[in-house]
Amino acid sequence: MSFTEPPAPIPLFKVFMPESVMPHLQQTLMSGHIGEGPRVPEFEAALAQWLGVPSVVAVNSGTSSLQLALRLAGVGPGDEVVTTPLTCAATNEPILALGGRAVWADIDPTTGNLLAADVARKCTPRTKAILAVHWGGYPCDLEALAAVARQHSIPLIEDAAHALGSSYQGQRIGGYSDYVCFSFQAIKLLTTGDGGALVCKSDADDQRARRLRWFGLDRRIEAGDCRWEQSIEEHGYKFHMNDIAATIGLEQLRFLDDNLARHQAHAARYDAVLQGFSQVRPLARSPDRHSAHWLYTVRVDRRAAFVAHLQAAGVAASRVHVRNDRYAMFAASAGGALPGVDVFDAEQVNIPCGWWLSLADVDTVVQALQTYEANA
Ligand SMILES: Cc1ncc(COP(=O)(O)O)c(C=O)c1O
Repeated sequence: MSFTEPPAPIPLFKVFMPESVMPHLQQTLMSGHIGEGPRVPEFEAALAQWLGVPSVVAVNSGTSSLQLALRLAGVGPGDEVVTTPLTCAATNEPILALGGRAVWADIDPTTGNLLAADVARKCTPRTKAILAVHWGGYPCDLEALAAVARQHSIPLIEDAAHALGSSYQGQRIGGYSDYVCFSFQAIKLLTTGDGGALVCKSDADDQRARRLRWFGLDRRIEAGDCRWEQSIEEHGYKFHMNDIAATIGLEQLRFLDDNLARHQAHAARYDAVLQGFSQVRPLARSPDRHSAHWLYTVRVDRRAAFVAHLQAAGVAASRVHVRNDRYAMFAASAGGALPGVDVFDAEQVNIPCGWWLSLADVDTVVQALQTYEANA
């Protein structure tokens, strides 16, 4: 008896790694600089140019960039951060790392993004920052969130882990808020293996972030025979990016526009197909913003049946994030009723949309969506 393995389903994620990175990687590995050396500032400059911002601070993960942003925002023991529970735990764990408390605000169930009106309701004199996630890459209503932040004289932090290449009011995500955090983790649109970046609005924050990412030291200062001789004014972290990651990042940047265009083209096809569907509902779109479409999320009433239907058609589908407010580590957090989170959490599911899909793959996904709609 012989068994034929069913073909692997079209995956939800895939690591992008061009062969052309290899000679550069070999050069870096043998260069004597595998920690933070010349490739890191090179990567920072290239990324800053791509984003259209004056400066970028490269770090070892998106989580580290969030912790730096929260620290720069002044979050400390007992302070509150108004944030979304519908995200990766990595968004909110850095609040706990600094001794702060997450206060949950509700989201718009048609986008997965924070509702500025509920954020405003949740701000108190103890609130030190607003932390917003661009779900799947689709930009939040930054204007409305920034207005709330201004009203309370607190910074707005963007968790743009999904949103490299997204745009808001004609500008790439990166330059709008006080702090914008990116992730270059394995399956992101640009990967450095692990890595991240922080964009600060103020030059003083940018300089302080550079010290905080490396033990509180200014790496440019050679005090006597040893840079450790300089005074460390405040404790920092070991969050710097290394040259191995930066080398990968530099090569990846050359492919970013093409990969991004493919994510967006596949998403546009799904948007067109899903017009008028009732059982598979796309998220809402506003003409003033464009998603990088790291994720393509749809809303369905019977998620398990939808996932099983797609799986049978050779298409992976699943949730990527679950609500954080149910984790025991956030037991001290408050938020009250979160009706938008309840709806979105119950209905959201993601379908493959990335650069790795061939046109035939996209057809396969579309056909699976059509047959689900017809039979649901
Ligand atoms: C929304 C969100 N924020 C933060 C992170 C953390 O990024 P990293 O894995 O680079 O630390 C991730 C995922 O990785 C994420 O999806």
